[in-house]
Amino acid sequence: MTDYIVPVAYDTLEERLEAMDRDGFVYFPQLIKKDEIEQLRSHMEALEGIPESFDQDSTRELNTDRYGSNAPFLNKHINNCFNRDPFFLKYLDYPEIIDVWEAMHGSDCHVIAMTSWITGPGRPDQELHADWQPYSLPEEYMQDPRVKMPNYISTFHVYLDDLYEELGPTKVIPGSHKAGRKPKKGEDNWNGQTAKSVMVKSGDATIHRAEIWHRGSANKSNQNRYLLQTACAQRMITQKFPPYLSRFRFNKDILAKATPRQLRMLGNHDRGNFD
Ligand SMILES: [Fe+2]
Repeated sequence: MTDYIVPVAYDTLEERLEAMDRDGFVYFPQLIKKDEIEQLRSHMEALEGIPESFDQDSTRELNTDRYGSNAPFLNKHINNCFNRDPFFLKYLDYPEIIDVWEAMHGSDCHVIAMTSWITGPGRPDQELHADWQPYSLPEEYMQDPRVKMPNYISTFHVYLDDLYEELGPTKVIPGSHKAGRKPKKGEDNWNGQTAKSVMVKSGDATIHRAEIWHRGSANKSNQNRYLLQTACAQRMITQKFPPYLSRFRFNKDILAKATPRQLRMLGNHDRGNFD
């Protein structure tokens, strides 16, 4: 028995939606081609942290106090990438991904986060967590096939490395989005299943539901790990781009380069309820 997950790819939208409902995630092998991987890596490297945007950029001074580490490590986590460089606009409505998003979250879905994350050797394990658990329900209800809880938020991960255990793959518990709750502090399994590494290759991508139990794992290698994360949500989930209290401003030059669908993903909606 393997102790990691070899993800299964599905070709049709219907199968992908079934996987999202059943497993809590769906896999897209080799979504990003080699040339684009190199470009994306260099655009991620070129971003510099803006402290008031809650960016964490330890490029110059290694991180020493996050995630319980007392040893320094590189942690470059940059928010709002779509507003920093027009190169990132394409990840708002990437082919195949946008079809799944619109089917799950509605044709008026929008982006709520886009983060570039470069993680160096020394970064410790994350705790098992759900990114967001918007409701609490007994598991027996969640397992009833008649119960279909709305999918409010999901995250598109673009992996830019061939993952191996020491580099720190994302670990997930398939199906745990149906736990009806988030893991308690220190809890390391759901119904006896622990989180297993999802072994992906550079250029592979996944989408996962915000409720799935998962964790980032330690980087015990000697190389940096590259990940672009874009979170999409139902329209009624607030777009919240730091810095807050309306200090965030869209970059007009980048907006001028966005397509109508990318503008909608950025929040350019038709008038609707509550407007
Ligand atoms: Fe997470």
